[in-house]
Amino acid sequence: MALNRAVIFLGPPGAGKGTQSKLAAQRCGLPHLSTGDMFRDAIARGTPLGKKVQPILASGELVSDDLVTGMVEERLSQRDCAHGFIFDGFPRTLPQARQLDELLASKGFGKPLVIEFCVSPEKLFRRLAGRWTCTVGGEIYNEFDAPPKVPGVCDGDGGKLVQRPDDRPEVVRERLTAYERQTKPLAEYYRRLGVLEVVDAGKSVDEVSRALNAILHCAEGNNGRL
Ligand code: AP5
Repeated sequence: MALNRAVIFLGPPGAGKGTQSKLAAQRCGLPHLSTGDMFRDAIARGTPLGKKVQPILASGELVSDDLVTGMVEERLSQRDCAHGFIFDGFPRTLPQARQLDELLASKGFGKPLVIEFCVSPEKLFRRLAGRWTCTVGGEIYNEFDAPPKVPGVCDGDGGKLVQRPDDRPEVVRERLTAYERQTKPLAEYYRRLGVLEVVDAGKSVDEVSRALNAILHCAEGNNGRL
């Protein structure tokens, strides 16, 4: 699939953005850019950025716009981003969205394609409470809906599965509040730009994947014109 487009997966914590963006990135041959994964990687490596953001992620609040956009700008300058990319967790505030518009224009991309994931809060809590992630390849499992064959072990590469510290219920509540206050308004911003699509992400992984595939196929070759 030749999209030549920036694709943004927008949605609350636990909506399935990571699960679906990994699948879509493989299908489209585009890099999957998760700002959350970038921060967790920096924390695991103990870099200065990691030390700065570790308490912020642990609290469930958002990292400051300048830190996020600086990191994204650097990542977009890499060669694998020349023909498009899928954002998972970025942008999350209106200033981030506006800065991304400028960045995309400076790189010759048209308007992004934005897909909003809609899921009920009850499902989000259940999904986050049951999430386990592989420490080697990043595969995502769910002990209720998509368990690994052996508990605690990744089916694909045998890596150890761990739970994220920010999936504790009290931090999840803070993350959902941050989403409602700071990120949800982006749906309206992109609706006005005429680039917003919405999926019912409360359905099964396969059903959501099929819905996304149909949207991405439609957008193929549109280059910023939906
Ligand atoms: P980030 O890592 O981006 O977390 P998030 O947006 O809260 O999203 P999640 O990763 O929790 O959920 P997801 O939608 O990817 O769901 P998943 O596919 O894993 O951000 C973490 C933190 O970093 C933020 O709180 C903030 O501090 C900071 N940050 C990151 N970006 C930032 C930015 N731009 N600005 C400022 N700060 C930023 O699925 C969840 C579970 O559900 C899994 O177990 C999965 O198996 C299961 N599941 C998925 N789909 C389905 C389905 N259809 N049916 C049943 N189960 C499903």
